[in-house]
Amino acid sequence: MATDRPRVLSGIQPTAGSFHLGNYLGAVRQWVALQESHDAFYMLADLHAITVTQDPAELRANTRVAVAQLLAAGLDPDRCTLFVQSHVPEHAQLAWVMNCLTGFGEAGRMTQFKDKSAKQGADRTSVGLFTYPILQVADILLYQAHEVPVGEDQRQHIELTRDLAERFNGRYGETFTVPRAYILKETAKIYDLQEPTAKMSKSASTPKGLINLLDDPKATAKKVRSAVTDTDTVIRYDPETKAGVSNLLTIYSTLTGAGIGELEEKYAGKGYGALKTDLAEIMVEFVTPFREQTQQYLDDPETLDSILAKGAEKARAVAAETLAQAYGKVGFLPAKH
Ligand code: TYM
Repeated sequence: MATDRPRVLSGIQPTAGSFHLGNYLGAVRQWVALQESHDAFYMLADLHAITVTQDPAELRANTRVAVAQLLAAGLDPDRCTLFVQSHVPEHAQLAWVMNCLTGFGEAGRMTQFKDKSAKQGADRTSVGLFTYPILQVADILLYQAHEVPVGEDQRQHIELTRDLAERFNGRYGETFTVPRAYILKETAKIYDLQEPTAKMSKSASTPKGLINLLDDPKATAKKVRSAVTDTDTVIRYDPETKAGVSNLLTIYSTLTGAGIGELEEKYAGKGYGALKTDLAEIMVEFVTPFREQTQQYLDDPETLDSILAKGAEKARAVAAETLAQAYGKVGFLPAKH
């Protein structure tokens, strides 16, 4: 792996039995592309996962399923470093320093925290959920990442990362690379198929609008065919007034490589039914091999473990060096062994 390439770091939480289409189109697809041009680090954010209660056996199983899905999506352990966050203790160690650099009010302004804690209520909200974005800052800075490929919902966390990197560098001297968010406009936000003004999310009000990649392809096809559109019949990309159709066009275009304009022409005068039927088929063609490959990786846990062991080793080599620098700058007395 060439080390003069710019570096990327990103992560995904292993909190569900399957990735959804938003995870894939908004983030994972870009991860696969960037491993060709960048020195890429991708992690399963299990420390982040426990900011809300997880069943231990499920968390373990979901972490394996997540790794298998990333491999099925096209991540190649020879081209990128794929690891589990909890295997690299430096994440929690740097997070402490970052906690001490962050203002209480600053952390309180994070919109994801505000949304989640409002939903759960203060008593069920952990301090971990409050400091969640600061752990994410540590994830990124440990690897001196230049770019962070994510969906739009993560933008504020990347802004915080930039602020804290600059604050640390200003206070203690140049230490961290100030990263940029890498967010593709077209797929920055994939919407719920039933509620096309809301982001596709596993906490959707109804599962009918959520496409889980590992679901039965027949059920997925049905969800696409019953996607909410509008009372008009014209197939035109216009997110403001035609949110549902525009979302379907985005998904169609990204999965096939056809331009939006091309699709508008192709479906001119054809009506929503034709678009949905075709997209349902495209989706089935995408998820069927994806599911099979995921299962093949899951059937071979030894290979998965050895990929993760190698990934953790590579990640630790980078993370330990950055942590030592940061600890030295802060004024911690070096431990003599
Ligand atoms: P997570 O696990 O919620 O989501 C993983 C990725 O999927 C993107 N995403 C979407 N993109 C477009 N449309 C959607 N509807 C949609 N839903 C989810 C997310 O933006 C994300 O990129 N905090 C992160 C995990 C994390 C991380 C990091 C990311 C931990 N440490 C360091 C980057 C760098 C998260 O919860 O992602």
